[in-house]
Amino acid sequence: MAHRWTNTLTHADVTPRAAFLNRRQVMAGLAGVGLAGLAQRSEAQEALEPNTWEDITSYNNYYEFGTRKDDPAKYAHTLVTEPWSIKIDGLVDKPGEYDFNDVMSEMTVEERIYRFRCVEAWSMVVPWNGFELADLLNLAGVQEGAKYVAFETAYRPDEMPGVQYPVLDWPYREGLRLDEAMHPLTIMATGIYGKPIPKQNGAPLRLVVPWKYGFKSIKSIVRITLSDVEPPISWNMANPREYGFYSNVNPNVDHPRWSQASERQLGSGLFAKRVPTLMFNGYEQEVAGLYEGMDLSKNF
Ligand code: MTE
Repeated sequence: MAHRWTNTLTHADVTPRAAFLNRRQVMAGLAGVGLAGLAQRSEAQEALEPNTWEDITSYNNYYEFGTRKDDPAKYAHTLVTEPWSIKIDGLVDKPGEYDFNDVMSEMTVEERIYRFRCVEAWSMVVPWNGFELADLLNLAGVQEGAKYVAFETAYRPDEMPGVQYPVLDWPYREGLRLDEAMHPLTIMATGIYGKPIPKQNGAPLRLVVPWKYGFKSIKSIVRITLSDVEPPISWNMANPREYGFYSNVNPNVDHPRWSQASERQLGSGLFAKRVPTLMFNGYEQEVAGLYEGMDLSKNF
């Protein structure tokens, strides 16, 4: 819903002026913050265009289907995504198995055009469709005392050829602090370009946290657990020196093996353009407050 979050990249950046004006009118009608948000968009945001469907769905990381960038597009078709349910448990009022279609009937799906920055220093701009994670957590009823949210991807050796290799300690696990999970920028993506999200991108629903490195955006989620302790996460378990729990995009804190100061913008031609990486991936204004007083080089 527009009153909660409007300060995003929009198709206004790429569509004809008539559509742009139309959108502005809609936003103005909805809430004052709409226009304020629009006015605050930086020049860098104005200049961005979403990547193509082909870019977004053919260059993937989804290690359950292999570690090459083209493996997920080749092999993820074997993942059975219907029916699908998500177990929500831990510190919630209504624990249980939530059917994906039932959840969708309760959620407001909207478009969010976000920058997406992988820890490997490549980036895209993706027009996601999805709903705010906060709405799903509120549906389950977050109990007092919950401080973290843990997520798990499906683990299905029969459908996922990559899990026979011990690249990670399967199932793929991720986690957020509760305030990060409840932030209006944090979404569960269920689509791209208005179409259901392809399997290689994490069908039927995956997390998107635009100010964090892409590995936080866990795919094909089957379990969400609210707890009072920081949950273990796959990449940190695999290599705690290189991957921290927070993993906020930060050009000033390098990966031990490469610089994070710049990134390759995929889709910008054969020779992908290298551009400076932005603090919190360009969402500093919205999320810096979550980390006030924290040493971001220690809590990387
Ligand atoms: N989720 C699962 N279950 N398995 C994975 O290997 N890779 C992560 C993240 N989510 C991954 C995952 C990484 S490293 C990135 S950069 C993004 O997914 C890639 O998302 P994309 O393929 O949609 O661009």
